[in-house]
Amino acid sequence: MPVGKQAEISPAEGKLGVLLVGLGAVSTTFIAGVEAIKKGFAQPIGSLTQMGTIRLGKRTDNRVPLIKDFVPLAQLKDLVFGAWDIFPDSAYDAALNAGVLEKELLGQLKEPLRKIKPMQAVFDQSYVKRLSGTNVKTGKTKFDLAQQLIDEIADWKKKNKCSRVVMIWAASTEVFLKQHPVHKTLDSFEKAMKENHKAIAPSMIYAYAALKSGVPFANGAPNLTVDIPALMTLADKNRLAICGKDFKTGQTLMKTIIAPGLKSRMLGLHGWYSTNILGNRDGEVLDDPDSFKTKEESKLSVLEYILQPDVYPDLYKDFSHVVRINYYPPRGDNKEGWDNIDIFGWLGYPMQIKIDFLCRDSILAAPIVLDLALFLDLAQRSGMKGVQEWLSFYFKSPQTAPGLYPEHDIFIQLMKLKNTLRHLRGEDLITHLGLEYYD
Ligand SMILES: NC(=O)c1ccc[n+]([C@@H]2O[C@H](COP(=O)([O-])OP(=O)(O)OC[C@H]3O[C@@H](n4cnc5c(N)ncnc54)[C@H](O)[C@@H]3O)[C@@H](O)[C@H]2O)c1
Repeated sequence: MPVGKQAEISPAEGKLGVLLVGLGAVSTTFIAGVEAIKKGFAQPIGSLTQMGTIRLGKRTDNRVPLIKDFVPLAQLKDLVFGAWDIFPDSAYDAALNAGVLEKELLGQLKEPLRKIKPMQAVFDQSYVKRLSGTNVKTGKTKFDLAQQLIDEIADWKKKNKCSRVVMIWAASTEVFLKQHPVHKTLDSFEKAMKENHKAIAPSMIYAYAALKSGVPFANGAPNLTVDIPALMTLADKNRLAICGKDFKTGQTLMKTIIAPGLKSRMLGLHGWYSTNILGNRDGEVLDDPDSFKTKEESKLSVLEYILQPDVYPDLYKDFSHVVRINYYPPRGDNKEGWDNIDIFGWLGYPMQIKIDFLCRDSILAAPIVLDLALFLDLAQRSGMKGVQEWLSFYFKSPQTAPGLYPEHDIFIQLMKLKNTLRHLRGEDLITHLGLEYYD
């Protein structure tokens, strides 16, 4: 991640290819949204790169540009989309299937969406048990499959006349995998691919192919994927940006907004019970206990890190934290997330907070995909290699340098992100000290 102050940033010239692994609810809502915004049908609500501003200098300076005017980001008109999926449906049919956006809106976007046909996936049902599809590559070894992806990325980039490409994993959550000795070095990883080792999941094959092709990679699901030494080394070696994991939307977004507030006022916590009903394909995949375990690990870590029970044992020692996801088809993508939060205040008196968030998963995730594509490309053009911790803002389980605990508090994450942009442009960092106004 290290980058010098006022780094030289190469301009965002030419087309930026956005390669999405998985053409499901999130990916199609993202692509359709960008096409709708380009046509002037809608605004990019929820996207920091498009709507966010950044304060520069003193509060009295009145310098508050839009982020997209402050750093050179690719423009929406220059984005080109490609995808892989195990189903052959075009982005138009997949979007209709996902049922997130209204048919009328999709009808107006039929032409660009129909053109996006998914390439054959690298898929193995033992990693996503609830799905099976026909649009799948065959190859003797996992290494062969990676080579096929590498060739395909090069062809796609050429055919679509892109000057740069980024890859984002927005495919299903794979079964829970722990780090294995074969993940340690690039050599052991490549050997394991050639031997079809079980510890190499399809998501790792995509990430490997991206990093071999000079393409930065973001992981939107809680899979281990690029969070292993072998691929972190490859990213460093090839000077490529990586980040992950698991888009921060819905209930976890709420958690990382509310928990820092409770802690800031030294209010204690007895327990936080979270449950969801959700009926999309993601919900169906997560109905499998092995895939849910991957998601659960990602969701559970958030409170521990924010509340720091070791530092504040009187407030947060042994709080109970339960997370449930229930697959309930009638709701489709419109998830309902309930939280019951048992807190305590002055003299230990108990209180309760109830949240009922009727959210839309893919509506919350789509702007994250856009921001990640643009910021990853910016990082790449600025010479920022390896783990991009400043993008923690977008993830449930932010990837960090080995041995460093992740920052989950959304307000600290935002400050980190904006200070990184200030640093890149040689502006003073904002500490909020503010003594100068009282001299
Ligand atoms: N929507 C959210 O709020 C949110 C938040 C955090 C994380 N996520 C994660 O993002 C991912 C996508 O979510 P979604 O709602 O779009 O799910 P989805 O089921 O609608 O789409 C996922 C797509 O990936 C495809 N797929 C599965 N394995 C593949 C492979 N190996 N190669 C290519 N394609 C493959 C599936 O066929 C499916 O079309 C999930 O892992 C989900 O857990 C979503």
